[in-house]
Amino acid sequence: MTLQSGPTFFSFPADALAPGAEAAAIVAGLMADAPWVSFKHLYGALGSRLFDAITELPEYYPTRTEKALLLACRDSVARAAGPAPALIDLGAGNCEKARSLFAALRPSQYVAVDISVDYLRQSMSQLQREFPQMEMLGIGADFSSGLRLPDAVSRDKRLFFYPGSSIGNFTPEQALAFLAGIRAQCAGPHGGGLLIGVDLLKSETLLQTAYDDALGVTAAFNLNLLNNVNALIGSDFAVRDWRHRAQFNTAASRIEMHLEARHDLSVRWPGGTRAFRQGQRIHTENSYKYALTDFKTLLARAGFDRIQAWTDANDWFALCHAAI
Ligand code: AVI
Repeated sequence: MTLQSGPTFFSFPADALAPGAEAAAIVAGLMADAPWVSFKHLYGALGSRLFDAITELPEYYPTRTEKALLLACRDSVARAAGPAPALIDLGAGNCEKARSLFAALRPSQYVAVDISVDYLRQSMSQLQREFPQMEMLGIGADFSSGLRLPDAVSRDKRLFFYPGSSIGNFTPEQALAFLAGIRAQCAGPHGGGLLIGVDLLKSETLLQTAYDDALGVTAAFNLNLLNNVNALIGSDFAVRDWRHRAQFNTAASRIEMHLEARHDLSVRWPGGTRAFRQGQRIHTENSYKYALTDFKTLLARAGFDRIQAWTDANDWFALCHAAI
């Protein structure tokens, strides 16, 4: 029995834009005819905590539904994935979801990828104590625009794990490119695959309340984006001047989050200003909801094969395994 000395960590600087370019991208979005800010600016120290709180809300069904599905389907998932895969957890966070699969999957290696390597250090040290024989790697990287893996990651029997329906925050075209990128990294002598969680189309009322909860946590999550934008571009957005809006766009099959001006106002930042009329909105997030057949088609278009799906009793959420 080989005991591991501890997880090994790697940190890849974001390929993302240089700080000046990031600010320029935000300003361009604010000045557009239909103003928008990227959903990535929802996150940050407070935003990530608010998101964690959202996952505990009674109205926000995806997290608990997926958790129950993972438990219920873990043996079938293990049969589909085959023995001892290298489990690559995208957006691992506290590593809890992957951990719930360890007993069934018995991974040969666990690779946790998250934007914050410091967060991984905390989550993985305890995990390594619990599973002292499992080789563990932690990678700090923003993989949303492409994933680079160090040579230490096994090339064979890779099982990518992308839970949480984060795929829904990409447009279908971006999702296709992302999935094709994962598919390209799956090819090993004994195959590879992807285990992914996806939120399914359902009643508009249910979606509406999931993204506009009674406590106002999602509203705080959305409004806090303005604080993040202020920090990034030096603007003077006042949170109190705005209200949270969530609406289902039937034609695009997505829940949209917007921030709506409560009255006529102007926002200033070094080198620029923009006037907003009462009721005018800034688009901050899309969360696409898929029909299961359409999502399977997307996986097939990305080059995956032998697609299996498990859903909860209400057909609210699906867990898909796709092989190569
Ligand atoms: C992270 N992502 C999958 C969440 C979602 O449901 O689209 C983000 C979120 N936005 C509002 N509530 C939760």
